[in-house]
Amino acid sequence: MADLRSNFIGIKSPNPFWLASAPPTDKEYNVVRAFKAGWGGVVWKTLGEEGPPIVNVNGPRYGAIHGADRRLLGLNNIELITDRPLEVNLQEIKKVKREWPDRAMIVSIMVPCNEDSWKAILPRVEETGCDGIELNFGCPHGMSERGMGAAVGQVPEYIEMVTRWCKQYSRMPVIVKLTPNITDIRYPARAAKKGGADAVSLINTISSIVSVDLDNFAPMPTIDGKGSHGGYCGPAVKPIALNMVAEIARDPETRGLPISAIGGVTTWRDAAEFIAMSAGTVQVCTAAMTYGFRIVEEMKTGLARWMDEKGFSTIEDFRGRAVPNVTDWQYLNLNYVTKAHIDQDLCIKCGRCYAACEDTSHQAIFKEKDGKRHFEVNDAECVACNLCVEVCPVDNCITMVRQTEGVDPRTGRKINPDYANWTTHPNNPMALKAAE
Ligand SMILES: Cc1cc2nc3c(=O)[nH]c(=O)nc-3n(C[C@H](O)[C@H](O)[C@H](O)COP(=O)(O)O)c2cc1C
Ligand code: SF4
Ligand code: SF4
Repeated sequence: MADLRSNFIGIKSPNPFWLASAPPTDKEYNVVRAFKAGWGGVVWKTLGEEGPPIVNVNGPRYGAIHGADRRLLGLNNIELITDRPLEVNLQEIKKVKREWPDRAMIVSIMVPCNEDSWKAILPRVEETGCDGIELNFGCPHGMSERGMGAAVGQVPEYIEMVTRWCKQYSRMPVIVKLTPNITDIRYPARAAKKGGADAVSLINTISSIVSVDLDNFAPMPTIDGKGSHGGYCGPAVKPIALNMVAEIARDPETRGLPISAIGGVTTWRDAAEFIAMSAGTVQVCTAAMTYGFRIVEEMKTGLARWMDEKGFSTIEDFRGRAVPNVTDWQYLNLNYVTKAHIDQDLCIKCGRCYAACEDTSHQAIFKEKDGKRHFEVNDAECVACNLCVEVCPVDNCITMVRQTEGVDPRTGRKINPDYANWTTHPNNPMALKAAE
């Protein structure tokens, strides 16, 4: 059986599945139950500075997007950092770490962006015996309006400065949690590295309004007739997170910087994808909030089984394997030709592929044969866009088949087995200039 143990910046855990800083990690009761259920580690719900505890709304704090089957696809929240007293949290962290020494215990921190505030909290957190800290530069709501969270994460200079304080005033490994609410994730990641971060984690939630109540004409969740933007997470954000992780993994300035990936991890497959994109651990919030702590069992067995099938003994065996295959559009092989093919035995003749291709793509699907309903691809029109594959309700009913020889009936051009990309294409004016 594959070995799921993880060693992330020296922090060991029995598996790479950590709970992200959020309600599931808000208190001893939750974290102990999570550890009993098998989670490899937790990032404790973000602590704030000493003083009057944070105040949350007393009305609904979540909104959501559901699929047609009511499955939760995206979750929006307007919750702030922990609203429990600092000392209570610190005592609980210390106790749980002592009782569960083999699990990773990371403490998330967010205090005002001044040296004294960080200097004051760091020794108190270090005293708990936790394995490391995560700097919450990500919350897009509430805290950011007070100059913390995403307000720091959006300014690379601040990220670098605060990270440096944390390295200066503590011996703990420092993970910088990045906000996705920026234009280019590479800049904050580079700043974290410059400041001495041991790792980055991403993504925190995305600024969002998930819906408008059409009776009250107010954003959801609605608090006494008003709503504000919140933070979006869950399966819907995974593609955004995966892209940002890939950007950091392949940027020459941050390549090799350890990454704890967060964003929509719901199954072992999501985790495997993030690890293939170089993540050392994955963090989970929405899936645990939707399905409970036991979801980790499926994640662990699924990942281990897949690794066995592939012959990977440890997660290091496949970590980062997808990174060299992430490239820029201009380097994609323009001589690679495929055509859609419909498996007539699987086709249930629903006509969705036809509607999609006929109305919005390339009119490349016949819907009739011998006066009967029958769906078949016309290779002479198919540009291989893949839309029909994505809208077909039957798995593997439509597949893309590579043409390796002969002539492409759409272009009339001979299939060329050689690789050629846009940088040298005759239609590219820059290619012509380069050749001159
Ligand atoms: C209700 C809620 C509260 C959260 N609170 C925090 C927090 O205190 N600190 C933090 O760093 N991230 C917080 N997050 C963000 C999560 O840690 C995580 O980055 C995000 O939800 C994406 O992961 P997911 O798609 O698995 O939910 C919160 C998320 C939710 C849903
Ligand atoms: S791949 Fe695109 S162009 Fe080809 S049949 Fe499907 S939808 Fe039409
Ligand atoms: S969408 Fe799929 S199942 Fe429906 S007609 Fe097209 S190929 Fe057949």
